[in-house]
Amino acid sequence: MNGDTINIALVGCGTVGGGVAHVLLAHADRVARRAGRPLALRRVVVNDPAKPRDPLIPREIISTDIEAAIRDPNVHIVVELVGGLGVAKKVVLDSLAAGKHVVTANKALLADAGAEVFEAARKAERTVCFEAAVAGGVPVIRALGESLAANQVTAIQAILNGTSNFILTAMAEHGMSYSRALAEAQRLGYAEADPTLDVDGSDAAHKLAILAQISFGVAAKPHEIARQGIDTIDAMDIRFANELGYTIKLLAEAWTGGHTHSTNGAKLSRGGAASAAHANGGPPTVALHVAPVLLRHTDLLAQVRGAYNAVLVYGDIVGETLYQGPGAGQMPTASSVVADLIDLGVGRAQRTFAAAKLWSREGRGFTVEPPERVRSRFYLRLQVVDKPGVLADITRILADEEISISSLVQHEAEEDGAGGPVPLVIVTHYAATGKFRKALERINALSTTAAPAVFFSMGD
Ligand code: NDP
Ligand code: HSE
Repeated sequence: MNGDTINIALVGCGTVGGGVAHVLLAHADRVARRAGRPLALRRVVVNDPAKPRDPLIPREIISTDIEAAIRDPNVHIVVELVGGLGVAKKVVLDSLAAGKHVVTANKALLADAGAEVFEAARKAERTVCFEAAVAGGVPVIRALGESLAANQVTAIQAILNGTSNFILTAMAEHGMSYSRALAEAQRLGYAEADPTLDVDGSDAAHKLAILAQISFGVAAKPHEIARQGIDTIDAMDIRFANELGYTIKLLAEAWTGGHTHSTNGAKLSRGGAASAAHANGGPPTVALHVAPVLLRHTDLLAQVRGAYNAVLVYGDIVGETLYQGPGAGQMPTASSVVADLIDLGVGRAQRTFAAAKLWSREGRGFTVEPPERVRSRFYLRLQVVDKPGVLADITRILADEEISISSLVQHEAEEDGAGGPVPLVIVTHYAATGKFRKALERINALSTTAAPAVFFSMGD
């Protein structure tokens, strides 16, 4: 950095960028004290300069000229808050090539092109900071990269998408419809520009890919992470889950073969396949997946509500630690972005970045466990024709795949709906995902199955 003041160019000034600009301008003294020198907002680049912005932002620093911001020799740090893969990737790579440090909240970009971005940063001897990319305002990147550095992480169980958690909470606690809850999450600034990424599990998979890189040195591409979103959950599933004593949460999970910690015994079983592969002398494996999971009402993660995120990390030395807080939204995310700027100002971020060697060739030997080997109990909801023999056909298929039934719920059909399809809910004992899916294919092909089966993992 040249001189005392650090000059910042903000590329993207929407929900998060607007929050960052506000914090830098409204709390300039506090930020300067913490950074040991002033952090000055010199340029703000947007798509539409005519849009109303925070009144603290001087009009004359707003432009649409990305190149000018990146090439400005007085700018030391470029903050990329455009989002997506196209323009954002160019901003990040060009900024590094121009000798700027980069701060970003763009998990989609890091999950997709982390290796390229970090290689470019090392080549340019510059730093990329990304605390805001995972769990918004919750400092989980620092926790994993710095505070837990003495540990090998053995498992992670996390709520990483604020929008999905907000929708599930609104549906379960306020009876809100899925579409209204999603619209509300968008209004509150939680959702991605394309909210499909939130509800189909992609955004959580992007974040899990980043956590897996930090924790296991695994460079899993998002499409390699088994993924199911909340878009298959019906209000009926939330009611059935509640009746059974469970809450549905979208979880991002990583289980290694070395995971031996267990608070309730069940967690071990969910990582069982990975344990088996490791015990047989194979390379250490980590199972990565994002999916709705039924958690007992008393489970810590079941109690995380609204747009809050929570990350349970199991370390081989520390044991179980929990990080929780607002996972989306303007100010929580801005809090993490500005913390990265302060760390760059102090000079801490540069040293941590150099030591961590993220997305480098220095892996830790972990490979990704094939999803079909992961063991779980399953919640299975079927719409079946209410006639003799239907249940026998289904239980025969499950038995063929060595899947044992733990409990079963079928309510009597409404009188006026007699003979029509009725919901049938089956909870299984532990089964390998591959076998369960095979059984599903056969159940879905039965003439008495009126709609494709809906299924989720059980958290215990
Ligand atoms: P927004 O859509 O609110 O903001 C995007 C900003 O980028 C806008 O200011 C827009 O300009 C600007 N922009 C878009 N295209 C261009 C372009 N071609 N040239 C210049 N500027 C452009 O997104 P968010 O603030 O919600 O998200 C930003 C990033 O932060 C994303 O990567 C997102 O995933 C991540 N993130 C978001 C969180 C959240 O809670 N919203 C939480 C954590 C991470 P204009 O204002 O003129 O339209
Ligand atoms: N759309 C994301 C979410 C923003 O809802 O979690 C935070 O990364």
